[in-house]
Amino acid sequence: MCGIVGYLGERDAYPILIKGLSRLEYRGYDSAGVALINGNGNLVIYKSKGKVADLDNLVKGKDLSGSTGIAHTRWATHGEPNDVNAHPHFSESGNLALIHNGIIENYKSLRTELSSHGYHFHSSTDTEAIVQLIEYIMDSHHITLEEAVPLALGNLVGAYALVIVNKKDPDSLIAARKGSPLLIGVGENEFFVGSDATPIVEYTDKVVYLDDEQIAYMRKGKEMVITDINKVKKTPVVKKLNMSLSQIEKGGFPHFMLKEIFEQPSALETSMTGRLYEKESGVKLTGIIDNKERILAARRFIICACGTSWHAGLIGKYILEELTRKPVEVEYSSEFRYRKPVLFPDDVVIAISQSGETADTLAAIQLAKESGCFLFGICNVVGSSIPRTTDTGIYTHVGPEIGVASTKAFTAQVATLIQLAIAIAELDGREPELRREIISELVKIPSKIAKILEQDQMIADYSKTFTYARNFIYLGRGYNYPVALEGALKLKEISYIHAEGYPAAEMKHGPIALIDEEMPVVVIAPRRGNYEKIVSNIQEVKARKGKVIAIVTEGDTEVKSMSDFYIEIPDTIDCLTPLLTVIPLQLFSYHIAIAKGRDVDQPRNLAKSVTVE
Ligand code: G6P
Repeated sequence: MCGIVGYLGERDAYPILIKGLSRLEYRGYDSAGVALINGNGNLVIYKSKGKVADLDNLVKGKDLSGSTGIAHTRWATHGEPNDVNAHPHFSESGNLALIHNGIIENYKSLRTELSSHGYHFHSSTDTEAIVQLIEYIMDSHHITLEEAVPLALGNLVGAYALVIVNKKDPDSLIAARKGSPLLIGVGENEFFVGSDATPIVEYTDKVVYLDDEQIAYMRKGKEMVITDINKVKKTPVVKKLNMSLSQIEKGGFPHFMLKEIFEQPSALETSMTGRLYEKESGVKLTGIIDNKERILAARRFIICACGTSWHAGLIGKYILEELTRKPVEVEYSSEFRYRKPVLFPDDVVIAISQSGETADTLAAIQLAKESGCFLFGICNVVGSSIPRTTDTGIYTHVGPEIGVASTKAFTAQVATLIQLAIAIAELDGREPELRREIISELVKIPSKIAKILEQDQMIADYSKTFTYARNFIYLGRGYNYPVALEGALKLKEISYIHAEGYPAAEMKHGPIALIDEEMPVVVIAPRRGNYEKIVSNIQEVKARKGKVIAIVTEGDTEVKSMSDFYIEIPDTIDCLTPLLTVIPLQLFSYHIAIAKGRDVDQPRNLAKSVTVE
């Protein structure tokens, strides 16, 4: 969602800020803005609806000098996307400018009160209330900005990551967070602020992750000071950033999504390195070994996630149940947190999240924590909020995922869940044969994915014939039912074609009514699992003249002969088929979206990291 960049130092701030905003574009946004304290000591603010490039055009010929500034990409929540609602917002006197991610829930009452004190509001946003409140507190208490910020933050209900500049104090920046991520890059006599590391990685690998309710005071030529909102000083913990510039660039691919699809063989290999031991036929996960008693004593596993991560969680349920014989529930975090789930202290809650920042999943963890459950995180972004709030966990380690539609993060989550299931089964000696078989097959998965990727051009050519389609149905059974959901989600997200994923046998209970000669039906039919059953489902589709696009195992003849188009995958054991069947579906969605002229990396209305509920 919204993106934050800040700079304070000796260099010109604008080029750093605008480049930082471009790096943050992947998060999803609808307007952008920048505030600089320019060479004349003036606070200048430029804002524009649309893309970062529109903002860059807007400022052409303007005075962009100055080495202190903040910039923002906004994903509209309160008030439509337009120039006025774009951040930064400024205070009544025009001395303060502020950018903000998150939602302030009590903004209406704050606005009413501040209006009664003569403060004027220009936008429909919750954010404007923060900057006005800070100035009101400064003026009414006759105190400095540093003193006013913690007082103001204490009056806010909701979530924030924010950065403030003060025209009267041009050599400083103040940043704070609660519930929305924020980190500070520490350079030589300079500071970089980011809502994630992508705008920072080019300049420094030393970062400080702010914790909730912490405020960072940065001043040119001085050490950064961090306090909590009660003004108690905290020692900044500087960490080394585990990211390289090449990871966040396209590397010759036209889109991040395609790059990330093609990265899957190497990403999965990296993700399994140091964990999967083929010779010893074992999986070593420190988080499991160190918490052996707690995991073995688990009454059940509850998986909480959203979106694509939820689909990975469903596959996780199948494999965890098969290998550990413990009950597993899979919950949408947003539903789980708002009902009254029955939780026991001996439950193990597994939170899955690429970003590690999804607001609903964070809230689900909080709820489970209150019931004393053991919390296990599966995340990709190192140092993000979920790994910092859970008791232990595993990083998927596939590098930054920039394309909004998740691809390599999904396959890594599935591979990680498979390893997790093996490690847990290993603890009490369950299913040794099956574990051995899975491990010896899992190591071959990266090269099998590479083989599927060789069919890219063929898939691209065929995809073009589907630009007419307004609807799609995806069918799968067993381990490939969640893949059907994921395939349909990918298509919706980036091509804007309506698609539904269904367990194939459920088709008869409704979706079959939709099938006619216009309806393309993607059937995931590898030669494992319930093959014969899915063959019958294909016949039901063909009998109603539906167009069948099948994902089949190499050498298959039966399904191929019934299909209008097929894509082959190498053979593997049932529980690993999702790691292969999803690859052609990712390519299929990508190419249909390209043929329809969609912006695949930044599809409309979507955000990469959903930091508001
Ligand atoms: C957004 C993204 C999806 C992602 C979901 C959950 O909707 O666009 O790609 O699957 O959030 O995100 P998480 O970071 O928790 O996996």
